Amino acid sequence: MSQSARKILVTNALPYANGPIHIGHMLGYIQADIWVRFQKLRGHECHFMCADDAHGTPIMLKAQQLGITPEQMIGDMQRSHEADFSDFLVGFDHYYSTHSDENKELAETIYNRLDKAGHIKTEVIEQLYDPQKEMFLPDRFVKGECPDCGAEDQYGDNCDVCGATYAPTDLKNPKSVVSGAEPELRKSEHYFFDLPAFGDMLKSWTRSGSLQNEMANKLNEWFEQGLQRWDISRDAPYFGFKIPGTENKYFYVWLDAPIGYMSSFKNYCDTTSKADWDTYWQANSEAELYHFIGKDIIYFHSLFWPAMLKGADFRQPTNVWAHGFITVNGTKMSKSKGTFIKARTYLDHLDPEYLRYYFAAKLTSRIDDLDLNLTDFAQRVNSDLVGKVINIASRCAGFIQKKFDGKLSSNVADSALLEDFQSAGADIAELYEKREFSRAMRDIMALADRANQYIADKEPWQLIKKEGAEQEVHEICSLGINLFRVLMVYLTPVLPKLSADVQHFLNDTFTWESHKTALTDHPINKFKALMQRIDMKDIDAMIEDSKQQQPQATEQPAVANDELKKEPIADEISFDEFAKVDLRVALIANAEHVEGADKLLKLTLDLGGEQRQVFAGIKSAYKPEELIGQHTVMVANLAPRKMRFGMSEGMVLAAGPGKDEIYILNPHDGAKPGMRVM
Ligand code: 2FM
Ligand code: ZN
Repeated sequence: MSQSARKILVTNALPYANGPIHIGHMLGYIQADIWVRFQKLRGHECHFMCADDAHGTPIMLKAQQLGITPEQMIGDMQRSHEADFSDFLVGFDHYYSTHSDENKELAETIYNRLDKAGHIKTEVIEQLYDPQKEMFLPDRFVKGECPDCGAEDQYGDNCDVCGATYAPTDLKNPKSVVSGAEPELRKSEHYFFDLPAFGDMLKSWTRSGSLQNEMANKLNEWFEQGLQRWDISRDAPYFGFKIPGTENKYFYVWLDAPIGYMSSFKNYCDTTSKADWDTYWQANSEAELYHFIGKDIIYFHSLFWPAMLKGADFRQPTNVWAHGFITVNGTKMSKSKGTFIKARTYLDHLDPEYLRYYFAAKLTSRIDDLDLNLTDFAQRVNSDLVGKVINIASRCAGFIQKKFDGKLSSNVADSALLEDFQSAGADIAELYEKREFSRAMRDIMALADRANQYIADKEPWQLIKKEGAEQEVHEICSLGINLFRVLMVYLTPVLPKLSADVQHFLNDTFTWESHKTALTDHPINKFKALMQRIDMKDIDAMIEDSKQQQPQATEQPAVANDELKKEPIADEISFDEFAKVDLRVALIANAEHVEGADKLLKLTLDLGGEQRQVFAGIKSAYKPEELIGQHTVMVANLAPRKMRFGMSEGMVLAAGPGKDEIYILNPHDGAKPGMRVM
């Protein structure tokens, strides 16, 4: 090996132990797994750790709802997560839980060291408290009317309708999501981590590595805004670890979650002796440490986490790599459209390597979102893997088997072509290393095209009919098999199962270096079909299956009170009062995304001559292009409201419980823009 073996520790964000894994989660796990498999194939010492993130209020409440202990619930969930990962061929070296002895001990060590160094402060703060359930309420467990636009049933942190952000204490008519009771303000002492003390250290950490551009920009924004102290305590009742020296204070789940990276590795080192824990975590460690995460948790991993490690005298991450989210068929995964696809549902219908390949073919080192277009998915996998790569072997293997006793020739037909394939390895390795998987796949497929072209030009099926051409056919087909072999070495990190089957077919064991050699005078096994084409019917069945899945008890949000969900009929009004509302048929002349708004679309509504701009909280349910040209009904005489993104001059009528289930009202054909609705 040209490069000496590196010591690398890789982690992936830990999934919460209160819900199933879905294909959106799988993007990050597959990305990290490909990178880890690449490092291992190259001969480096690389350990891949994960665990369930088992603490926090939602987990505590969900277990209560199910009538089981949190321990029982997180145990069940961990088993199902591990099965999903393993069936997706994500090869963690260890999978553990943050609810473990090692994690408790490490969390206490880190906290005690931070405290001793003066980085922990206390302060009495006021928070909403549920007097019935006798607990403080996290922001997402309070609902009420938006203080800005008055929309009902909004969470305590931001409004789904107008996009405003606020404190839960700003909500009008707040209700506890847990009991339905009206929350009250109560004081309690909280523990804070002094993040601002680490400003300089974080700035130099940011500059020391090669952070993704988007991440460096985000960090700079946060530095400019000024770092805030971080509240790391929660009051009982809470499912987590008690803070040393307190009676009823617990570590906030996000304090001990990343420590789960260390404790999973600790348990792995202790039980397998495959690595030495200190070598990887001590302050002056020369080992490499990488965290793969989703873009939503950059703050925790690039500010709190390095600062906590520094303050407790441990090493900092070499790098933190964030990925974007996935959309399916161009929109957010949606339960009603059947595109909220659980890992298990996918596996019930499709081969995991299809998705591994498709993600690889689209992943870059950037934080961009990635669209899983299901038609493109089927076409791409069928054309690239079955139509190009496997096709090379299936065109050549039969001849080797039938005409040449299953043995490859001692010479290959065109050594220059083979050398081209081999010399591409350096660039492809570089692309894997830099997480530019989509470029790596493009280069590999370009080579596959060349191999197919070569075979098509040589036409061994014609040549074999010619007398005296046997040797040539043998060498052509043996070259074909060798070209296929080189491509499969390159694809091993992405397609480990296919690669294992190919290694069996070729009587070979791959390392990355295998691409530099050729198999000559070498017996191979009988060729069997290596991969089936994707049938659109299986995709349709998967979507149908996802649509049918009613939320099971274990997946329901931890919302206890049905009262909050029912919409009672409002108080009676007179006809005159109703007649004040001027409802009109409107044509949606334009619809577009609003930069910075998670929930809103900007609509241009045509009232037959007059145009109105309306912001509607329907982004989760509709793509803008689906709406343009549709007719709907709007409240035309609603006083214009100033929103964060501009004036909203009316309101469109829509029904549904919210989230991705929102249906705008459509008048029957014939209704023209501007007509009054009565
Ligand atoms: O956002 C999440 O899903 C968290 N459970 C990720 C935790 S990552 C690490 F810090 F533990
Ligand atoms: Zn609002």
